[in-house]
Amino acid sequence: MANFDSLVYCSILLCFCSTFAESIAVNTITRSQFLRDGQTLVSRLGSFELGFFSSGKSRNRYVGIWYKNITVQTRVWVANRKNPLIDSSGVLRIDVRGNLILVNQTNNLFWSSNSSRTAGNPVVQLLDSGNLVLRSNFEEEDFLWQSFDYPSDTLLPGMKLGWNLKTRLDRRLSSWKSPDDPSPGDLTCGIELHGYPETVIWKGTEEYFRSGPWNGLRYSGGPEMVTNSVFNFTFMDNADEVCYMYQLSDKGSIQLRLVLNQSSSSNGGGLQRFTWNDRISDWQLFAQLPRDYCDNYGLCGAYSNCDMNQSPVCQCLEGFKPKSPANWKSLDWSGGCVHKIPLDCREGDGFMKFSGLKLPDTRWTWVNRSMDLKECKVKCLKNCSCTAYANADVRGSGSGCVLWFGDLIDIRQFLISSGTSGQDLFIRVDSSELAAQRDSKRKGKLKAAIAATLVMGILLLSCSVWYLRKWKNKTKLEGNKMNNEEQDIVDKSKMDDLELHAFDLATISMATDNFSVSNKLGKGGFGPVYKGELSNGQEIAVKRLSKNSFQGLDEFKNEVILISKLQHRNLVKVLGFCIEGGETMLIYEYMENKSLDHYIFNEKRSTLLDWEKRFNIVFGIARGLLYLHHDSRLRIIHRDLKASNILLDSSMEPKISDFGIARIFGGDQIEAETNKVVGTYGYMSPEYAIEGLFSVKSDVFSFGVLVLEMVCGKRNRGFYHPEHQLNLLGHAWKFWNDGKTSELIDPLMRDSCVASEVLRCIHVGLLCVQQQMEIRPTMSSVVFMLGSESAVLPDPQQPGFFTERFPTKASSFSSMQHSCSSSNSVTVTLLTGR
Ligand SMILES: *[C@@H]1O[C@H](CO)[C@@H](O)[C@H](O)[C@H]1NC(C)=O
Ligand SMILES: *[C@@H]1O[C@H](CO)[C@@H](O)[C@H](O)[C@H]1NC(C)=O
Ligand SMILES: *[C@@H]1O[C@H](CO)[C@@H](O)[C@H](O)[C@H]1NC(C)=O
Ligand SMILES: *[C@@H]1O[C@H](CO)[C@@H](O)[C@H](O)[C@H]1NC(C)=O
Ligand SMILES: *[C@@H]1O[C@H](CO)[C@@H](O)[C@H](O)[C@H]1NC(C)=O
Ligand SMILES: *[C@@H]1O[C@H](CO)[C@@H](O)[C@H](O)[C@H]1NC(C)=O
Ligand SMILES: *[C@@H]1O[C@H](CO)[C@@H](O)[C@H](O)[C@H]1NC(C)=O
Repeated sequence: MANFDSLVYCSILLCFCSTFAESIAVNTITRSQFLRDGQTLVSRLGSFELGFFSSGKSRNRYVGIWYKNITVQTRVWVANRKNPLIDSSGVLRIDVRGNLILVNQTNNLFWSSNSSRTAGNPVVQLLDSGNLVLRSNFEEEDFLWQSFDYPSDTLLPGMKLGWNLKTRLDRRLSSWKSPDDPSPGDLTCGIELHGYPETVIWKGTEEYFRSGPWNGLRYSGGPEMVTNSVFNFTFMDNADEVCYMYQLSDKGSIQLRLVLNQSSSSNGGGLQRFTWNDRISDWQLFAQLPRDYCDNYGLCGAYSNCDMNQSPVCQCLEGFKPKSPANWKSLDWSGGCVHKIPLDCREGDGFMKFSGLKLPDTRWTWVNRSMDLKECKVKCLKNCSCTAYANADVRGSGSGCVLWFGDLIDIRQFLISSGTSGQDLFIRVDSSELAAQRDSKRKGKLKAAIAATLVMGILLLSCSVWYLRKWKNKTKLEGNKMNNEEQDIVDKSKMDDLELHAFDLATISMATDNFSVSNKLGKGGFGPVYKGELSNGQEIAVKRLSKNSFQGLDEFKNEVILISKLQHRNLVKVLGFCIEGGETMLIYEYMENKSLDHYIFNEKRSTLLDWEKRFNIVFGIARGLLYLHHDSRLRIIHRDLKASNILLDSSMEPKISDFGIARIFGGDQIEAETNKVVGTYGYMSPEYAIEGLFSVKSDVFSFGVLVLEMVCGKRNRGFYHPEHQLNLLGHAWKFWNDGKTSELIDPLMRDSCVASEVLRCIHVGLLCVQQQMEIRPTMSSVVFMLGSESAVLPDPQQPGFFTERFPTKASSFSSMQHSCSSSNSVTVTLLTGR
């Protein structure tokens, strides 16, 4: 009876199909039907459509599912991702075993549902959720196979990401290789099944981003993730399954998809959540992971905390210190941190509490959901390899116990204030560390008390002084302007500790062959530079400062000592100084590969600098400058950053030289304004050249010029183009706006370059040379933008100094003092008439 019924049904459908060739009017395929290329299957309410498609420029044919109702064709699932049909001869049908298969005309198999279970009377149905299911005609709910179990790059509402523990089915997303090619690309996303499960995105086989474990309410790394008016989400972690799922709160009115996208805007790729926006008739990005620099897996190494509000972003946790202080200083954090006081795992250990964290990688964890925090602590103390513990579930007052074994990796800091964000973690430290912490807290309180008393005292005192003054009308008091830090360094008794050497003139004279012309390396703005060799064989560079340039000797010494405190991989090291017989000299380490301008502006030598080297140099300069601006004990503004001041060591590692030299030439220049503009045409920011205003942002401007010069292989100043009167900045800006950015790239390195990196460099360069100093990025953002492929960069605004070869306003300067006006790379000193 049933068979007869379905036979009739089928023959009716077959008639139907043959008359309406483009689309099957129903949402099912039965054994006697098939779907040819050109026909589609539409879900009952018309939400989704199944059919054959080609994508992008490729002519390969695939079977997939897309939104029926959405004008921008958006595929959510592909059957034969890895195995495309090359023509339109494909047929989708149910085979004799009851599987859904895709074959071509000669019956070659291209894809199969390959279900382990089969049933009589199978039907294939496209549901309004976007799920393609294979079931028995008599069983509405029991799916023999469903497309939701084999996701492509998209997680739709109601789809599960993760594990079915009973069937060992692991549902993972994988990105499309490219918009033309749906085959699995670099990124995969799934749930890592260790003790305390978490969602992970892998790039190839490397971990790229982790969500942090589910803490009962949300992922520990996603405090902003809260159930909202659009969707809610759940994480199932039980004996049957470990998986994540989200659902729409209001079905039908909104379209939402989560997609693993390898080609998201800035190339890093990641998970994107889109909603459909009817008004603009396009998908709108709702959220994106990874979000920022600190989301990069393991950026800061072990026992270190990534905090976007700090500079640098990586900070050792309290009670820990960098494993390699030198690397740490040069912003290479991969080595991580180690205990200040090593653990000896005797009675003495205790735990320090940290709040507001994304919990560390849970690869080596152990969980018991019924233990409380006290039992948890005891359990952790008992095992010497247990490094930390926390509640497994933060709902209510918290419950369960997680223990970590081994190094704690990939921690980040969230704001503690909001209460719901981040999580408490208890990390094992030596008890003396705990005591020190208690002490410093007590001292902190004591200090606060003393400070309060002092403030009261000072208030009283100043009141009396005021009365006294009024009464006596006496002269004002002079304050000591020097800050404590400088005072500390100038302290003569400490001079001996310094590594800085006071060379005598005879030594230097001998080393440089009595300052012979053949030893002269070049001439900078502050005097000639000589190469020398000390009697022990060490090569040095001697900068002989012009005699009449500086003021007091003490001032000079102070400055040199300050500079000697600066140590960074990307700064030239000052070995010493020499003050004798009217000579003032600085002695540097010698750099055998000379300076950057020797390479990038020379047709022959620039072929030696391929893109990888140039990018490394850009990045090195950025790190060195960041160190000068933010990370050293002093804030130093270079003020004369240019290609000839970037030296290259034997492995082409860049070293900034001449840093702080400008400071030596007069103490009056440490203010934010100066009456003496020191710098180089083509590298000076407008506010500095015109108004004498300088700040870290004027260095950022020079850095931007340098980056553009390195990418284009042309000098900014003296740049010539037959079509316009612009300098290099103007030229780059014009090409950027005309969408011809890639034509800027130095033809000599076009072959070696990585397009995405070069374009990012140009973008960053243009951001740095913007006219308005307020919107130029700081060096820490620059380092971040250069280093992160997923950073979303703002659009650059008009650069400063791009039309004229030199600002017209500058001609109104009362006098100009050129050290050497014939060469445009020489530092000039302008005396403004203020
Ligand atoms: C399809 O689009 C129309 C108009 O935009 C809308 O009214 C209808 O609800 C949509 N149907 C589905 C299933 O989304
Ligand atoms: C079917 O596919 C096979 C394998 O790709 C191929 O060799 C064959 O020529 C195809 N048949 C037709 C009619 O395109
Ligand atoms: C179907 O599954 C079996 C084992 O489950 C496997 O050996 C076979 O290669 C699969 N076939 C296809 C076409 O995926
Ligand atoms: C999420 O929303 C769906 C649809 O409104 C509802 O059925 C489900 O119970 C909700 N789940 C949670 C965890 O709130
Ligand atoms: C991937 O991201 C890019 C840029 O945001 C977007 O244009 C593209 O549509 C996305 N791909 C998918 C499948 O959503
Ligand atoms: C978890 O902790 C409870 C309470 O301490 C204990 O009874 C139970 O045996 C523990 N389970 C495991 C697997 O250790
Ligand atoms: C400590 O824990 C580790 C990891 O669970 C385990 O392999 C080891 O045997 C434990 N040691 C002791 C002394 O319990």
